Amino acid sequence: MNIGSYHTNNKLILAPMASITDHSFRQVCREEGCGLVFSEMISARAMLEYPPEKLDKLAFLIRQDKPIAVQLFGSDRQVMGRAAEVAESYLQADIIDINMGCPARKILKNKEGGWLLRDINHAALIMEELVQRVNIPVSIKIRKGWEDCQTALEISRLAEEKGIKAVTIHGRTVEQGFSGQADWEIIKKIKEKINITVIGNGDVFTPYDAKRMLDYCGCDGVMIARGALGNPWIFPRTLSLLEYGVATPPPSFEEKMEKALHHLELLLTFKGEARATKEMRKHAHWYVKYAKGANAIRKEINKATTRQDFIEIFNKILAGQ
Ligand SMILES: Cc1cc2nc3c(=O)[nH]c(=O)nc-3n(C[C@H](O)[C@H](O)[C@H](O)COP(=O)(O)O)c2cc1C
Repeated sequence: MNIGSYHTNNKLILAPMASITDHSFRQVCREEGCGLVFSEMISARAMLEYPPEKLDKLAFLIRQDKPIAVQLFGSDRQVMGRAAEVAESYLQADIIDINMGCPARKILKNKEGGWLLRDINHAALIMEELVQRVNIPVSIKIRKGWEDCQTALEISRLAEEKGIKAVTIHGRTVEQGFSGQADWEIIKKIKEKINITVIGNGDVFTPYDAKRMLDYCGCDGVMIARGALGNPWIFPRTLSLLEYGVATPPPSFEEKMEKALHHLELLLTFKGEARATKEMRKHAHWYVKYAKGANAIRKEINKATTRQDFIEIFNKILAGQ
């Protein structure tokens, strides 16, 4: 798949997920073969005000994590433009993505994220600004629109006109959040109407969903969010299905626990034990899903504060299978 001058190894993309797709999880998914990862969304304004140590740490993590699209959110055209320059030159992002879909109330209140789908003239100015300011490809991530103004197609056309290189479409309205079913018709329609890269997103939980989305919508790539939680194998299994017509079997619990431990080790390297183990709890819940005795184990996960606590939990899971 191409995003402007950028060529990815395959069509599968790890979605941006705030508080989840940090460096460690991105690495876990990359090791399993996903073609491109997105950073968590970053506030353009906040990034410009980061203390030097915080910006240095972000730069360190982004620079060794390639290829990566750095996602920015904001509303002020100049601020977004300056942040994009920093992301290109200092963070060494490969692609800059503009968040135009976040439905969180505090984001919408600031006329950021999904709000831009209501104010497409302003969205167009932001796209124009970023395309002019940086040399790397700029992409946008949108939703279908709002219930009363479904602007996805209009904004995708504007994006192409302004020099944006890829559009990711999550087939839900802003009001829907994550409820209901994602509408893949809109992805298909946009793919038919524009000539830049179109990435489909929404409700891909299995390799078969990914293939169905590619076949039905004709999109260039598939972005996976919730389907990758505790399940980075969705990438190699889907790649196998696309390449050979058969998805590789799902992982055993040995593989799952081994991966969970590897994920924890990465978190420990970058975040220290207290923070790493706290953040690992949510991932551990996803890794142990479907294990026998998972309900009882959940309580232990919530109390885990050390690497050793997690090792004992993972061993217990294995002993119970
Ligand atoms: C916990 C969580 C955090 C998310 N954070 C972001 C984000 O930072 N930026 C963004 O564009 N979308 C974000 N999303 C939306 C996802 O990228 C994706 O569009 C959505 O979950 C639909 O894809 P899925 O059905 O594969 O989960 C987030 C979703 C979840 C579940």
